[in-house]
Amino acid sequence: MTPSAELPLPGALAAMARSIAEDAGELLQRGRDTATVVRTKSSRTDIVTGMDRAAEDLIRRRILEIRPGDDILAEEGGQIGTGSPVRWIVDPLDGTVNYIYGLPDWSVSIAVEVEGTVVAGVVCAPLRRATYIATLGGGAWLHSGWLPGAQRLACSKVKDLADTLVATGFNYLAEKRAVQGAVVGRLLPQVRDIRRNGSAALDLCSVAAGLVDSYYESGLHAWDLAAGGLIAREAGARVTGLHGAEAGEAMTLAAGPAVFGPLHDLLATLVADAERTAGAGD
Ligand code: IPD
Ligand code: CA
Ligand code: CA
Repeated sequence: MTPSAELPLPGALAAMARSIAEDAGELLQRGRDTATVVRTKSSRTDIVTGMDRAAEDLIRRRILEIRPGDDILAEEGGQIGTGSPVRWIVDPLDGTVNYIYGLPDWSVSIAVEVEGTVVAGVVCAPLRRATYIATLGGGAWLHSGWLPGAQRLACSKVKDLADTLVATGFNYLAEKRAVQGAVVGRLLPQVRDIRRNGSAALDLCSVAAGLVDSYYESGLHAWDLAAGGLIAREAGARVTGLHGAEAGEAMTLAAGPAVFGPLHDLLATLVADAERTAGAGD
């Protein structure tokens, strides 16, 4: 048998990711009332709770029970393994600040890459009673606790910037926030409105579901965007960085195809201006 003949199918990986993400979501829901902050990371606002770690432990254990040879990159514990064609990319709790405050928008995000391409993505948001799921080429779907079956997702068709509801997020580092604040301050008068919901993975799912028309943020990591990025793309959105770059730490922009171009061009100008101004002040 050739090595590629042994590769798992996206649908099987997505089903496995869904079951694990929903179990981690349940664990997080049960543990919320007693969750406490156990450390901070990049700044005093970048918190880790005991439940981030407990959810990540559950996810790693479950993946390795079923597929012991796979690589895993997870936010709290980093990468294990480097030799497998299959890599799981995990944010065990996206939206930790919302979680600890009791705000509902937090999620478990699990993506699976095969030979470097994300082929399956799941974002489970227990308090939305929603699991968003996509496979490469298979569309994006919502499993909602309020509705029977699965709903196919399609992003917004909005065309004009003035009609565009834009979600965004802010970095944990104050100096990066100053630049982000300058950008959003000049964007706000030109769009319908701004939303800051607090979970990047769910922001991308919100683009997929048409709950917002677009989303952008700089400073994201692979675990924030791998699953949600696939879900948004499979719902018809464009998801890239600026000037044709891949979505990533420098910029992640997701929008319906009709408004993507104008939003991209405006954002590119605003980011360049804000970075020039911040650089001049150094
Ligand atoms: C954060 C959330 C937030 C985004 C930050 C992320 P975390 O992830 O997704 O919405 O603005 O950039 O770091 O720390 O809650 O996993
Ligand atoms: Ca995150
Ligand atoms: Ca996290």
